[in-house]
Amino acid sequence: MTVPQLTGVHPAWLPPEAFQAIGSRRVLVLGEGALVDTVREEVAAARARHGGGQGGGQAGGQGGREGAGCVLALSGADGLPEPARAVAAEAGPTGAEGYALARRDGVTVVVADAPAGLLYGLFHLVRLGEAAFAPADRPVERHAPAAARRMLDHWDNIAVHPVMGQVERGYAGGSLFWRDGELREDLTRVRAYARLLAAAGINAVAINNVNVHATEARLLTDRLDEVAAIAAELRPYGIRAHVSVGFASPVVLGGLPTADPLDEEVRRWWADAADRVYAAVQDFGGFVVKADSEGQPGPFAYGRSHADGADVLAAALAPHGGVVHWRAFVYDHRQDWRDRSTDRARAACDHFAPLDGRFAENVILQVKHGPMDFQPREPVSPVIAAMPATKLAVELQVTQEYTGQQRHVCYLAPMWSELLAFRPWGEEGRSVADVAVGGGGLVAVSNAGDDPYWTGHPLAQANLYAFGRLAWDPRLDPAAILDEWADLTFPGAADGLRGTLHAIMDGSWRTYERYTAPLGVGFMVRPGHHYGPDVDGYEYTPWGTYHFADRDGVGVDRTRATGTGFTGQYPRPWSDVYESLERCPDELLLFFHHVPYGHVLRGGSTVIQHIYDTHFAGVEEVSAMRARWDKLDGSGLVDPAYHARVAELLAEQQRSAEEWRDQVNTNFFRKSGVPDARGRRIH
Ligand code: GCU
Repeated sequence: MTVPQLTGVHPAWLPPEAFQAIGSRRVLVLGEGALVDTVREEVAAARARHGGGQGGGQAGGQGGREGAGCVLALSGADGLPEPARAVAAEAGPTGAEGYALARRDGVTVVVADAPAGLLYGLFHLVRLGEAAFAPADRPVERHAPAAARRMLDHWDNIAVHPVMGQVERGYAGGSLFWRDGELREDLTRVRAYARLLAAAGINAVAINNVNVHATEARLLTDRLDEVAAIAAELRPYGIRAHVSVGFASPVVLGGLPTADPLDEEVRRWWADAADRVYAAVQDFGGFVVKADSEGQPGPFAYGRSHADGADVLAAALAPHGGVVHWRAFVYDHRQDWRDRSTDRARAACDHFAPLDGRFAENVILQVKHGPMDFQPREPVSPVIAAMPATKLAVELQVTQEYTGQQRHVCYLAPMWSELLAFRPWGEEGRSVADVAVGGGGLVAVSNAGDDPYWTGHPLAQANLYAFGRLAWDPRLDPAAILDEWADLTFPGAADGLRGTLHAIMDGSWRTYERYTAPLGVGFMVRPGHHYGPDVDGYEYTPWGTYHFADRDGVGVDRTRATGTGFTGQYPRPWSDVYESLERCPDELLLFFHHVPYGHVLRGGSTVIQHIYDTHFAGVEEVSAMRARWDKLDGSGLVDPAYHARVAELLAEQQRSAEEWRDQVNTNFFRKSGVPDARGRRIH
């Protein structure tokens, strides 16, 4: 294993300088195992750059700063020096991925029971930098991930899709794995990606699109060597590869007449497929399945339930320790807009709640965080509270499909943090994070690609970093995560940049919401690519995404009393809060209720005035963000190319925000006939 080096690619949160504190000291690494070797390599690379020393097996090493020292050791390793032994004894068991960190008698110590913990401990030291070696003793701190699986889904295609391209909903260039229908010859960048992800706490990656097309289906058969090659790059950083598979694979790949999950031959086909995969990739993670969703095949074709469907794959993977991520994103995408009784928001709960307790042990039901589809504002999905006997993973979208497509700054950690802290059963009950942590963990759609900044918008790197950190510890504060990310990403300059970054990023999700999605109305985007405004773009389409605005009012009546009954999918108190026009939170009012434009919000404004005000305010906030960034020009705090790229994107964000403001305001003015109380320009 060698530490990957890239040229022409931004180092994101692992620039060489981030290793200065470790690399300039004598470091002892003790223990056996592939991930311990990775730690050794990392330390050696840091030392080569920064002039410290590394002890192979014995205490100490050559060179480095006198009196400074660091031990990274497995707690069971032979020859544990005294401070490490004491820290290990005090810390007790650290678990499979946890570690303990302390500083004693001038030595900084990380101990872990297992190699993965040591790797995460190393990255903790990187985050701390010099602070890890401050002269004072540091009491023993124990760290372990909240969720056992912290996963990214890539929506990468092998063959460039005629509409969706190489990466579906990808805004950061091409795939890191494939190019023009072939596995990339040089996978160094995949290893560098794995390294970044490990430093953020990620330990699983599904490598291909959930919409499995013909070429990608073959990852299970004659393209399995590509899975093995990618897995080999991820492995040194503790990341397991998962693969999205099509439910009809027994037919498509196996030539069977059916994919009926209860058919014996089908079961055998899946078992053989899993055996083959594990023969090639011993630590393979498992399958991801999008079934009966947006045209993907599924068990409904055979009159079977999704529990039947998931279980056949689960049975195939179980002997090998693999898991099935079965997505709950099932709804009718061929709905008739005239039909007011079918409500897409209800669909996942209607389909899956009755199956609670029927899934095999190694099935994880992967639930999008909201009932619709990654809109800037949605309530939490009721499925999360409806299936106590099922392992659930909560799915987030780091790729900014509906949040500015990595052309707009939209720091998503505040949104994720808010929804993870939401308590579906009320203040005394468990949170969304508790459900995910106790079940299948957190999953997110990645925003990375072969762009030189990894994520298109350089500041969108923070979203990738923040997802990993929140999956590790959902209680982390988004602003503190931003500081961490900035300290690592801008070595030596973070102090000067922090104020600007917070001013631009902390509130950027709410700013985005202001100029796009008022009071819980979503989907006013251009159909297809989903960038830019189109108020009625989806209003008469079969996708089930409506706002029902007319001359009198706007919003979707999802109450039990007079609407679709969706509010009844929540437990108390939220079923009652959302049902009530008086108690429903303003930001979700139009998600749950259809109201006249003159309806007075809890905040005191009318609905129509709120729409105008927030759209004007959103644009002003973007102008302020831009002015703030422009001030950095020539400051020497950010690389000029980085600065220019962000400046250019902020200009586009401003143009787009103005377009959103003008289209949304004009549209609602024309519909309602109500003028802006402040007399601003509406077209
Ligand atoms: C959204 C997105 C699709 C994606 C789907 C999914 O609808 O637009 O591109 O396939 O989500 O999550 O499966």
